[in-house]
Parts: sequence; C-alpha cells; structure tokens
Amino acid sequence: MMEPKYIHFKEFADGRGGLVALEQNQNIPFEIKRVYYIYGTPENTRRGFHAHKDLEQVAICVKGACSFLLDDGREKIECRLDSPATGLLIDRMLWHEMYDFTDDCVLMVLASGLYDEADYIRGYGQFLKAIN
Ligand code: TYD
Repeated sequence: MMEPKYIHFKEFADGRGGLVALEQNQNIPFEIKRVYYIYGTPENTRRGFHAHKDLEQVAICVKGACSFLLDDGREKIECRLDSPATGLLIDRMLWHEMYDFTDDCVLMVLASGLYDEADYIRGYGQFLKAIN
C-alpha cells in the first residue's frame, strides 16, 4: 500500500504567530535549486498531469489547502495538504495531479533541479511504459 510521504516541519509558534524554516539536506531531503508557487487557481481546476524522470520535489500549502492524486504506476492514492507545517514529498517517477484548491491556496513547491522540459513525462501512457 503506497502512503503519502509527509514531512512534518518544526513550528516555532508563539503569541506572535508561526514560523517554519526549510533547509536543504536537513528537513528538505535534497539541495533546493528552484522554488515555484501556484496561486489564484480557479474552482474545478486540475493541474499537474505529469511525472518527472529525475526531479524530486516537496510541496507545501503555505496558505489554504489542495488535494493530490499520486500514482506510482501500480497504485493511486489521494491526499490533502492543508498546513504550512506539512510538506509532501513528490519522488521522481510519480504521476501527480492537484485539485480542489481553496480560493486562498498558495501551493509552494521546492525542487531539486532547475526547470527542464526534457525531465517531464506528460503522457500517462508514456509514464506507464517507463515504469514497466
Ligand atoms: P505547468 O507544467 O503547466 O504547470 P502544472 O504542472 O501545475 O500544470 O507549467 C505552467 C507554465 O509555467 C509552463 O509554461 C511552464 C512554466 N514553468 C516554468 O517556466 N518554470 C517552472 O519552474 C514551472 C514549474 C513552470
């Protein structure tokens, strides 16, 4: 049974609010080469629909919530990210889709590599072929 790989970050929270620190090769299991974020996602929008050959990523809903479909080619699981103190590890060769974004959702993603279209597998059939 595939399980989502969550990373629970230490929260420094007091009367002033909360703070989370992300550090490469510490609580993020790779060197961080790129950060991007997804926001203002309209209702009923689904994004992603790809896997990466080599890239590793950690996704964090720094605001709001969204759901993930994760598919390793054998099994599909769904999970929801709704805390700025929780990261979801998206391994290489994991098909992923994101949906059910709240209006206020800001989904931040830390990535182990620079943007490289050649690292994407954008066809589901192609993904299954690469897995098997
Ligand atoms: P896209 O891959 O469609 O996003 P999603 O996986 O959420 O569906 O990316 C949208 C656009 O942004 C596309 O034109 C490529 C560009 N982009 C970059 O230039 N750099 C990046 O780091 C990312 C993630 C996307």
